[in-house]
Amino acid sequence: MPDMDGFREANSFGFGQASLSDNFHVKGASNMPWGMKDRLSRIFNPKTGRAVMLAFDHGFIMGPTSGLERIDLTIVPLTQYADCLMCTRGILQTSIPANVNKPICLRSDAGSTILTELNRNLLIDVEDAIRFNASAMAVMFSAGDGEQEAITAANLVKAVDLGNRYGIPVMGVTAVGKQMARDARYFALASRVCAENGASIVKTYYCDGFEKVAASCPVPVVIAGGKKLPEKEALELCYNAINDGAAGVDMGRNVFQSDSPAAMIQAVHAVVHEGLTPEQGFELYQSLLHS
Ligand code: 5RP
Repeated sequence: MPDMDGFREANSFGFGQASLSDNFHVKGASNMPWGMKDRLSRIFNPKTGRAVMLAFDHGFIMGPTSGLERIDLTIVPLTQYADCLMCTRGILQTSIPANVNKPICLRSDAGSTILTELNRNLLIDVEDAIRFNASAMAVMFSAGDGEQEAITAANLVKAVDLGNRYGIPVMGVTAVGKQMARDARYFALASRVCAENGASIVKTYYCDGFEKVAASCPVPVVIAGGKKLPEKEALELCYNAINDGAAGVDMGRNVFQSDSPAAMIQAVHAVVHEGLTPEQGFELYQSLLHS
């Protein structure tokens, strides 16, 4: 059983967390079946209600982007510090030892690369999510993106239907059309649409007014890190997102492109789970550089 005082404290933090009337530590999951709750509990720590997910699925559209050329050398040593690993089945199968024993958020759609304008994503077979013992399936929803919006909405709905059949939560990965502002209005819309279609987790981006994005989404919101920032700024991003109601981060480049990925993920973990300020997090980062 989670410590109830710690639970209340953690969850009274911001708009995005579970309300006190919930008897489960993951927002919006109180009425879910046991298997769903078990999988969500593997991702979101029952003591804090939060999660540090390590995203390294970038290769499926970008190829061997900087920091991900050698998953065995850069990512495998970081897995011990992550609450959950987000990657494709190809990388999981080839490069992540099964005995790292971490929950997996399996990238479950696939599509065009960054070289192609129109993306026609499709879903992988849900049986692979079962075979890989995935704790969640990640599927993109691209709002306001013409034909791509309908394709990704259909993928999301299908993934939720199949996930519900087998007790596997879906994480909706929000994108907004290129011509649209990357602001709270559109991120809130995309996040809410994911949840309305049955996603149990939403991944989106931090922005001004993020508290409205988190508050109007009935399931936990985790933020992507986006392009590489100086370490202290990336820790500020994490801190602000948590303060404004995010339930965690699903961060990639700001970890694996850091000068010290191991120090950075530990600092991110401390900001997310222990409430370290960005200054304290950065001090921790620096101290780990020399340890
Ligand atoms: C893209 C993704 C990426 O995993 C996501 O963008 C997280 O990575 P980063 O922190 O590098 O932005 O889901 O669809």
